[in-house]
Amino acid sequence: SRQMLRVSSAPLCFAGKACFASKAAQFKVCVSGGAGGIGQPLAMLMAMNERVKEVSVQDVSMAMVPPAGVAADLGHMEFPSKVVGYAIDPSKPAVDQLEECLTGCHLVLVPAGVPRKPGMTRDDLFAINAGIAKGLVDACAKYCPEAVIGIIVNPVNSVVPAMAELYKKKGLDPLKIIGVCTLDTVRANKFVSVMTGTSPMDVAVPVVGGHAGVTILPLFSQDKIAATIPADKIAALDKRTQDGGTEVVEAKAGKGSATLSMAYSGARFGGKVLDGMAGVPASEYCYLASTVTELPYFSSKVDFGPKGVVKVHDIGVLSAHEKVRLEEAKAALKLEIQKGLEYAKTC
Ligand code: NAI
Repeated sequence: SRQMLRVSSAPLCFAGKACFASKAAQFKVCVSGGAGGIGQPLAMLMAMNERVKEVSVQDVSMAMVPPAGVAADLGHMEFPSKVVGYAIDPSKPAVDQLEECLTGCHLVLVPAGVPRKPGMTRDDLFAINAGIAKGLVDACAKYCPEAVIGIIVNPVNSVVPAMAELYKKKGLDPLKIIGVCTLDTVRANKFVSVMTGTSPMDVAVPVVGGHAGVTILPLFSQDKIAATIPADKIAALDKRTQDGGTEVVEAKAGKGSATLSMAYSGARFGGKVLDGMAGVPASEYCYLASTVTELPYFSSKVDFGPKGVVKVHDIGVLSAHEKVRLEEAKAALKLEIQKGLEYAKTC
């Protein structure tokens, strides 16, 4: 069904044995921060992907649940994937502790990080999470330099440029570092489907720009169902897509943020990357080094192939509302990219 296609061209299969008989699972995937709110369900969905032979659940030794426990739990599901937990001591360099965890990985998904706490500025959050991401990215550069690294940890708009520039400095391909913005597309599709009484599987709203606030730019005019929504409703729908994260934080009464819809979205992204690696063309909207606009990083449609990114698409024709929003998005994104570039310079 198309529901399954949304995650991978290889179906998520609940009758494990029958489904797996025909195709060999070939890929190793690491979920860094795999004992966290996003990490646990994300590791579960990746362990259920037909293309996956092994999942590394990586986290820190003082994580809420030991990574080995998450791995033992997931390892009892009736899927052929092997699941192994790895705990690191965050006071020591990650690169010294992750050889077995990362060697042979094709895809590393990174929700590892800390959420913003009261009293913490966005800059504080960036400094902490960029430091965590850097430890992992340095380790990936050493043990799996060909792997695609999907950055989920916020602020994606700054962490991705910082990490991609570090890869460049090491002589590695900056397009291996990709910001996961799939949740924005997923939300836009769902909101449009509810508003129009259609199936979300028939809606595919491109979301370009970046992954925070006004930098999130849904292009409703480019989807045939969304384009039927009256113009006077678009600004509110646009805003709701931008504020989707806040909607969940408020509904969870401060006790968490989007974890389950993010895990679904991360697995959809990961599934597409693995499809490409398996030789099945696939694409997703994501944030990476780009020449699509004058900004050095931007989110647009990306095609995946055997080694990761094969093509970054233009953003296409915009409506009048979207043209105004594009300028607003670029102005905000520029500053957030700058923060990432400065971080890379000081490393
Ligand atoms: P969480 O706090 O539940 O999980 C984070 C996990 O990372 C924890 O288990 C923690 O122990 C682990 N961690 C910390 N340092 C680590 C290290 N050095 N190595 C490995 N693991 C480490 O947080 P949650 O809810 O899972 O969110 C994670 C991140 O994802 C946050 O930055 C959040 O803002 C971001 N996020 C991104 C979204 C997107 O669309 N890209 C959507 C929702 C959240």
